[in-house]
Amino acid sequence: MTKTKPYNSKEGKKQQIITMFNNIATNYDILNFTLSAGLDNIWRKQAVKKLSNNPKKILDVATGTGDFAICASKYTKAKIIGIDISNGMLDIANQKIKKKNLSKRIRFNEGDSEDMPFKDNEFDAVTVGFGVRNFENLEKGLNEIYRVLNKEGEIVILEPSFPTKKIFKTLYKLYFNFILPKIGALVSRDGAAYSYLPKSVATFPKNKEFIYLLKKIGFKKVKYIPLSFGIVSLFVAIK
Ligand SMILES: C[S@@+](CC[C@H](N)C(=O)[O-])C[C@H]1O[C@@H](n2cnc3c(N)ncnc32)[C@H](O)[C@@H]1O
Repeated sequence: MTKTKPYNSKEGKKQQIITMFNNIATNYDILNFTLSAGLDNIWRKQAVKKLSNNPKKILDVATGTGDFAICASKYTKAKIIGIDISNGMLDIANQKIKKKNLSKRIRFNEGDSEDMPFKDNEFDAVTVGFGVRNFENLEKGLNEIYRVLNKEGEIVILEPSFPTKKIFKTLYKLYFNFILPKIGALVSRDGAAYSYLPKSVATFPKNKEFIYLLKKIGFKKVKYIPLSFGIVSLFVAIK
């Protein structure tokens, strides 16, 4: 189901994900901004604004270059920890918080979301931006998130999706499946990484299935909110 891999069928998904994000780390932010027409930060802001429990401690899972964590520092008063398996992405994240003088609010750790180095019930909120699709074992990762959230703790998850309106969907699929991979390959010089993106979205559980999975893990009040005509899905839930 989430076993789509970037490079080959032999090596494990996790190792390939580490290699891929290390390869594209330096161009990740500029490509994200360009390919989303500058909407990526708006999506993160919309997600953070859904956190309604005034969190004091937030975990940003699959933090990458740290933009979700930085966004959370703007719109909450929380201390934030971001974890990721890619050193290359974390290097960029660390440079950013140093530049922005945010090192007292945000800390980045190398860590696997499927086996987290945190105690049960440690966080008031968890954010995950464009990360869960890349987990090797989706259920394991979601169970771990559930474990480290405290009771009534809140989670917001962003994932790419497709518009529901037929004409827009057709046009967007054309862009997402054919144009985006070409631009991504040109700028990042890793063709496989930006072909993996549409393939991994296509094989990720559909919105309804993902809601079902979150409920199965134990999350309550699971909500799905389509953003920008549905090109991104925002899932909100509580423990
Ligand atoms: C598309 S990037 C998203 C980065 C960031 N959250 C954002 O909003 O731009 C996906 C990130 O997930 C990380 N990742 C994938 N599997 C992971 C895992 N099991 N544990 C921690 N990080 C993981 C990758 O290394 C990568 O940095």
